Amino acid sequence: MNIINMRRSVRQFTQEPVQEVAILEILKSGMQAPSAGNQQPWEFIVIKDEDKRFELSKMSPYAEPIKRAPLAIVLLANLTNLNFPQFWHQDLSNASQNMLLEVVNQSLGAVWLGVAPDEDRTTYIKNCLSLPEDVEPFCILAIGHPLESNANHYVNRFKEERIYYEVYGE
Ligand SMILES: Cc1cc2nc3c(=O)[nH]c(=O)nc-3n(C[C@H](O)[C@H](O)[C@H](O)COP(=O)(O)O)c2cc1C
Repeated sequence: MNIINMRRSVRQFTQEPVQEVAILEILKSGMQAPSAGNQQPWEFIVIKDEDKRFELSKMSPYAEPIKRAPLAIVLLANLTNLNFPQFWHQDLSNASQNMLLEVVNQSLGAVWLGVAPDEDRTTYIKNCLSLPEDVEPFCILAIGHPLESNANHYVNRFKEERIYYEVYGE
């Protein structure tokens, strides 16, 4: 699939807003992800407000793209009544990757800013967003129109030596 190959982490954006229709498609793609027992633990906060994005960008030294992008989507897991709570990180990872691919499909760019399972980042984001006890932040996607036209581009990462057939090490 071409968008898998073309997706790159994009950290510089124009200030052009992301259209509502694109935001909805990105959210829908997250909710289409596979999850353990189809438990769909995800919830999302869509944040455009500049002051809020500035606060979020102070989560870590690596989170600055949040203040440069016109849009941030915070991915959350609601842990109440999950049948397979031990798998929530994997569920949310699937949603995140789906959303990154839909971003490319919408001719936009994005970067994944990691939150879970880092305790300091989790505490910071929970406080910033006044999240209830049972709602865990997973990651933040900073999304916008890429500043550079070739921001999404192909990089070959195929490594044949990482593949084994039938027996490990052979
Ligand atoms: C779990 C996770 C956490 C990440 N956290 C950050 C981050 O805090 N800041 C950042 O700029 N990029 C972050 N990234 C993006 C990676 O740096 C990026 O995916 C990697 O360098 C590969 O580049 P590519 O996305 O262009 O293929 C994160 C990616 C993942 C999957």
